[in-house]
Amino acid sequence: MPIKTETSADIVKLLALTDERAIGVLFAYADAVRKKEAGDEVHLRAIIEFSNYCVNDCLYCGLRKSRKNLHRYRMTDEEILAAVRKADELGYKTVVLQSGDDLFYSADDISCLVGKIKNQFDMAVTLSCGERSFEEYKEMRAAGADRYLLKHETANKKLYEKLHPGQSFEMRLKILGWLKELGFQTGSGSMVGLPGQTLEDIAEDILLFKKMDIDMIGIGPFIPHGDTPLAGSSAGTADMVLKTLAITRIVTRNTHLPATTALETIDPLGGQKALECGANVIMPNLTPQKYREDYQIYPGKICVFETADDCASCVRGMVKSIGRTVSSGRGDSLKIKKTQ
Ligand code: 5AD
Repeated sequence: MPIKTETSADIVKLLALTDERAIGVLFAYADAVRKKEAGDEVHLRAIIEFSNYCVNDCLYCGLRKSRKNLHRYRMTDEEILAAVRKADELGYKTVVLQSGDDLFYSADDISCLVGKIKNQFDMAVTLSCGERSFEEYKEMRAAGADRYLLKHETANKKLYEKLHPGQSFEMRLKILGWLKELGFQTGSGSMVGLPGQTLEDIAEDILLFKKMDIDMIGIGPFIPHGDTPLAGSSAGTADMVLKTLAITRIVTRNTHLPATTALETIDPLGGQKALECGANVIMPNLTPQKYREDYQIYPGKICVFETADDCASCVRGMVKSIGRTVSSGRGDSLKIKKTQ
């Protein structure tokens, strides 16, 4: 069966597959594309969730500013640097500094921190701290930040704006354009199973990743959080996330695709299943244990009671168990490599 992914209609057909055998063929093809384009190495990105303050009020998110029953924290520079040192000791070659949209940190503050990390460690630095001005991103890039993650979340403008009060879809896309222009390896991503989202919308997410030539794409299920306005909604399914991931691999080819923590949260085998249908990246948690409970963007997030060491050995064991290897390199954009 030839697998067609040219148009939105082609993709919707694949997303609608229910026949196990047909889904198996789709996954096997995605796995072959992953092997050809990204190889057998799995890249590990250590994620440090350094602040859970947020100025935004996204309807789905457990860190939304209206949520009053959450203990808010900010890690100090010393705590962040200690977590980066731990990541270095555990052999990670990338650190991802993630937070809510916390304007307490100026671009200077973030740039200064990036400078310190780049001085002390031979690691790629990814930032994931929300929407800023062009000038601010420019300063962070000049300080040495290599990559930036800012998911478009959904390509349906109406749904995007309903879920993100006060934010605009055009601005989100404009910022992704700036990040690319500034030379960041740029990450985006989306949620699957959002209330009101259709298969056509998911197809548009995939086509948008392709159109924007995104370097890394995180796709996870929507998981309703009890302390948000979407508390009563149903969650995305692991099956739909895996189909979306597989099609994204086939359509975008040489991209980095993580097995997301959200997927592992709804399916204990989600990590390995993702690695076997297109994914080539895992993001182990390096946030100090005492803060983990307060960074539950969605409920039931895995690894809340684990330590950095626990997560490191668990991830390495899982990668080995499916016959893949852990990369010892930085895992820069596959698009850069191609043009060199
Ligand atoms: N369910 C699943 N993923 C979520 N995110 C935020 N809230 C939820 C939720 N309720 C994801 C978004 C965001 C990332 C940090 O976490 O995609 O970009």
